[in-house]
Amino acid sequence: MLIAMFFERVGRNLTDLDGIMDAMLAHTRLDLRAYRRSMIERRVQSRMDRLSITDPTLYLHRMRQDPAECAQLAAAIAINVSAFFRDPLVFELLDAVVLPELLHPEGRPPATEVRAWSAGCAQGEEPYSLAILLHYATRKTRATCAARIYATDIDADALARARIARYPREALREVKLGILDAAFVPNGRDFDLRPEFRALVDFSRDDLMDSDRDAPAASVFSGFDLILCRNVLIYFEPPVQDIVLARLSRSLTPGGFLVLGESESAHTPASHGLLEFDARHHLYRKHDPARRTT
Ligand SMILES: C[S@@+](CC[C@H](N)C(=O)[O-])C[C@H]1O[C@@H](n2cnc3c(N)ncnc32)[C@H](O)[C@@H]1O
Repeated sequence: MLIAMFFERVGRNLTDLDGIMDAMLAHTRLDLRAYRRSMIERRVQSRMDRLSITDPTLYLHRMRQDPAECAQLAAAIAINVSAFFRDPLVFELLDAVVLPELLHPEGRPPATEVRAWSAGCAQGEEPYSLAILLHYATRKTRATCAARIYATDIDADALARARIARYPREALREVKLGILDAAFVPNGRDFDLRPEFRALVDFSRDDLMDSDRDAPAASVFSGFDLILCRNVLIYFEPPVQDIVLARLSRSLTPGGFLVLGESESAHTPASHGLLEFDARHHLYRKHDPARRTT
């Protein structure tokens, strides 16, 4: 069935989509009301196509009867597409500007610890890319600094894959040859990330919409120097994006950096205490009252 026809159906009977959302909340704790309605409609449509169901009411019935279908829809909504060094220019900026500033802040003693959070980390490609950069940045600048990266996602299956840290070649196409050799061990057609990089990342489940806490539970306290939250906000309705941005900003230490995805931006950064640091690469810095330039 064409998406337009589905919209027409749902338009006639909004309770179908509301019912689907209620069933999801009950069975998976996933609150679809926060996500862009158009995205939810597309994912529901695609599940219906897979099951050859043409009537949203029948799909709702199926969900109520079969909680496994709720899990299938949740998996379809958690779009885990990612890759190592996705948007390579962002990682170059992190390497050339952000990490040196975090490790050796101007006018301050060198850092003894750098704490980062990769929020919406999928199978670990993003936090592990950062782990590789941090590993080499600390060696390059001879920093004696502990690096800790907390990586979170709502999708427990993606986190389980992240902990295994085995990747197909397609996920590594932006990895430079020297790094590929130094950081990965071939394993059949796949590549295993070496333990020294894996050890820098701590994975845990976290729902970014959880308003009860700022930092992910695994990190105990917030005060992050760097947060990557890329290609996640785009799935949320604009008011929810704002709530999540407020949480991320609260979790940043003054002077800390926030990176959003290529098609994401903070519309009113100042309202969250954020300053645009590099607009082209969606990089923000939290206002630090102790620093004159930020
Ligand atoms: C497209 S991936 C982005 C991965 C990585 N950040 C990148 O840019 O390559 C989006 C991730 O956000 C996660 N996600 C979706 N809703 C979430 C939520 N409410 N809380 C935490 N993670 C969420 C999905 O499970 C998925 O793994």
